[in-house]
Amino acid sequence: MTETRDELIAAARDAARRAYAPYSGFHVGAALLLRNGDVVTGANVENASYGLTLCAETAAVAKIANEGWIGELAEVAIIGGRPDGDDLRGTDPVNPCGRCRQVLNEAAERSQTDILVHCASGDGSAVKTYKLSELLPAAFGPKDLGLID
Ligand code: THU
Repeated sequence: MTETRDELIAAARDAARRAYAPYSGFHVGAALLLRNGDVVTGANVENASYGLTLCAETAAVAKIANEGWIGELAEVAIIGGRPDGDDLRGTDPVNPCGRCRQVLNEAAERSQTDILVHCASGDGSAVKTYKLSELLPAAFGPKDLGLID
């Protein structure tokens, strides 16, 4: 469990190096663990129009959906901070934004799992783990549209 957590956080940290975040300077990486053990990552992609920014979690969920794996999600790690060479600075765990919670919920419901979400600080010193249902209680999702039992 801790090994899985730490490996996922390491994958998220690696993904954050590939963030495109010239406006905020805040690099976020997300790592999605699939049921078969594969890990799919994403990083934030900013835009000159600011409001069109894509978050790391959303980028990663788009990748699994496009591969046909939206129903295979098991666990998630997120990390964020300001880059310092190959490292990230920051001592507070990064929490997923509201939109990302909703986007993660789509995959979690399709995967019929109340996934764990590990939120890590840039420097790795702090990790908080939540169930998605704690981050987004009483979520609206595919089950509300009668698409899931
Ligand atoms: N960001 C994410 O990638 N995920 C989140 O859940 C929170 C925010 C990004 C968006 C933006 O590029 C930067 O962090 C600063 O808000």
